[in-house]
Amino acid sequence: MTDTNHIKHVASPLARQTLLDSNLTRPVAGKRPIRILPWLQVIKIGGRSIMDRGAEAIVPIVDELRKLLPEHRMLIMTGAGIRARHLYSVALDLGLPVGSLAPLAASEAGQNGHILGTLLAPEGVSYIEKPTVADQLALHLSATRAVVASAFPPYHHHEFPGARIPPHRADTGAFLVADALGAAGLTIVEDVDGVYTADPNGPDGAKAQLLKETSFAELAKQPGTLPFDRALLEVMATARHIERVQVVNGLKAGNLTAALRGEHVGTLIHTAARQS
Ligand SMILES: Nc1ncnc2c1ncn2[C@@H]1O[C@H](COP(=O)(O)OP(=O)(O)OP(=O)(O)O)[C@@H](O)[C@H]1O
Ligand SMILES: [Mg+2]
Repeated sequence: MTDTNHIKHVASPLARQTLLDSNLTRPVAGKRPIRILPWLQVIKIGGRSIMDRGAEAIVPIVDELRKLLPEHRMLIMTGAGIRARHLYSVALDLGLPVGSLAPLAASEAGQNGHILGTLLAPEGVSYIEKPTVADQLALHLSATRAVVASAFPPYHHHEFPGARIPPHRADTGAFLVADALGAAGLTIVEDVDGVYTADPNGPDGAKAQLLKETSFAELAKQPGTLPFDRALLEVMATARHIERVQVVNGLKAGNLTAALRGEHVGTLIHTAARQS
């Protein structure tokens, strides 16, 4: 009988505690997580800003990515772009819930990824699906210098129902995966020089000023639009590894290369993660 008790008992500091009390969980859960792929550079390529422009924007960025292969190991992630926007309007008109919209938009991001993967195929780069990113990224990156994936987070029917348009889109997805992997960096590639005080292509564009360096907290206070999903600011607030995100203009040759070499181009956004 005593033996049975002994076998059944699992000594665990969390076994007898509620997981809701952070004072009790902190000694165990408060430790900094390990960096799984500390050499990885995550690059999010804009769906609307780059991919939807076609060859004129895609060919130069593919050339730049190709030249970066000997220097960096990369997870290249694509946004959804204009087709997802059209899809949102059709699906919303039909009354579909947010959890149905999320996977549909994610498949558009995947299509853009397939395009990039195909163009980089001669260099040994392939498009990989979400389960492969989750389970076999290290294996793929030991066989090749870079892979392409959809940047959309796979919330699907688990997407938070607060809004009708999925709040967690490609920028949030790229950040979550970069932070979870403890990547070396995240660069967001857009069609503007960085984050401005207002949309530089909007009605107040003439007055918009480029922010060279800012933080998630400052941007959260800034009203109006941003060149990425607002939910990105929320996940930056709880980041564990990624200390800064760089937003660069992919229509200007050399900007992405400079960012990956640690040069200050575009906008640097500081997150809440701190170097220990
Ligand atoms: N505060 C801002 N600073 C800079 N650009 C802004 C700002 N607000 C809005 N924008 C606009 O955001 C545009 C980029 O759009 P968006 O971020 O939707 O594209 P994308 O990232 O390519 O799309 P996707 O999310 O599908 O990948 C820029 O061309 C710019 O006009
Ligand atoms: Mg964007």
